[in-house]
Amino acid sequence: MSSAIYPSLKGKKVLITGGGSGIGAGLVSAFVQQGARVHFIDLVDEVTATLNTGVLGVAPVFHKCDLTDTPLLEKTLATILGDGPVHILLNNAARDDRHSLSEVTSDYFDKSIAVNLKHMAMCTRVIAPGMKAAGGGAIINFGSISWHLGLPDLVLYETAKAAIEGFTRALARELGPDNIRVTTIIPGNVKTPRQMKWYTPEGEKQIVDAQCLKGRIEPQHVASLAMFLASDDAALCTGHGYWIDAGWR
Ligand SMILES: NC(=O)c1ccc[n+]([C@@H]2O[C@H](COP(=O)([O-])OP(=O)(O)OC[C@H]3O[C@@H](n4cnc5c(N)ncnc54)[C@H](O)[C@@H]3O)[C@@H](O)[C@H]2O)c1
Repeated sequence: MSSAIYPSLKGKKVLITGGGSGIGAGLVSAFVQQGARVHFIDLVDEVTATLNTGVLGVAPVFHKCDLTDTPLLEKTLATILGDGPVHILLNNAARDDRHSLSEVTSDYFDKSIAVNLKHMAMCTRVIAPGMKAAGGGAIINFGSISWHLGLPDLVLYETAKAAIEGFTRALARELGPDNIRVTTIIPGNVKTPRQMKWYTPEGEKQIVDAQCLKGRIEPQHVASLAMFLASDDAALCTGHGYWIDAGWR
C-alpha cells in the first residue's frame, strides 16, 4: 500500500506507547517513514522488528518501561524530553485481557484501569507543557469499538475505553487554547499477533461478515489515520473520535 507523505511530520518528535508490537509497531514504522524522530515505550524485549524500521528513516529509539509503574514512567519521560519537547503523543498501549465480572477484585480493577487508562493521563500531563511551549501539538488516544458494540468478557477494558473518549473531549477543551489537538482513534478488529490468539478462522469470518467492507484491517490502515490526525492537514480536528472499523456493526 502506498501512503501519503505529510511534509508537516518530517522532523517532528513522536512518542508512541506500546510501540513494540501490533498497531503500535505499525505506528512506529509509519512515522519513521515520514521522517519523524520516533521514540516508543514498551514492556517487552522483543522489539527487533520495530527497531528495524529505522532503515526506512531516522532510527526509532526504544525505551523499556512498564507504563503502569508511574515513577519509572516519569523517569523514562524525563529522559525522552531531555533533547526537547514531544510534538506528537500516541497513547496506544492497552491490554484486552478477557475477564468476567466475578474476576473483578479490587486488585484486578486497579491493574486493569492502570494498563488501559491511567498511563494515558500520566503521559499527557508530563508531555503537554513542552508541546505548549513548542507552539502546539497532537495527542491521539486509542479507544476501541468494543464498548460501542458491547462485546462479551471485557467489562473493565470497555469501561476504560469508554472513559478514553471522555478524556479526549475534556482534554481537547483544556488544551485547545495552547493549540494542542486531542483526538481518539476508534479501531474495529485489527489483525495483530495478539488478536490472532483470540480469534479462530470462524471468529474472524464472523467479524468480516459484520463489516460493510470485507477486508481485514491491518496496523498500516490504522497508522494511515493516525498520520493524518497528527499532521497539519488535520489542523482543525480535535475533541472527537475517528473510526477505522471497515463499517463493523
Ligand atoms: N487490535 C485490535 O483489534 C484493536 C481493536 C480496538 C482497539 N484497539 C486498541 O488499539 C491499541 C493497540 O492495540 P494492539 O491490538 O496493537 O495491542 P497489542 O496487545 O497487540 O499491543 C500492545 C502493546 O502495548 C504493550 N504494553 C502493554 N502493556 C504495557 C505496559 N504496562 N507497559 C508498556 N507497554 C505495554 C504490549 O507489550 C504491546 O507491545 C490499544 O489501545 C487497543 O485497545 C485494538
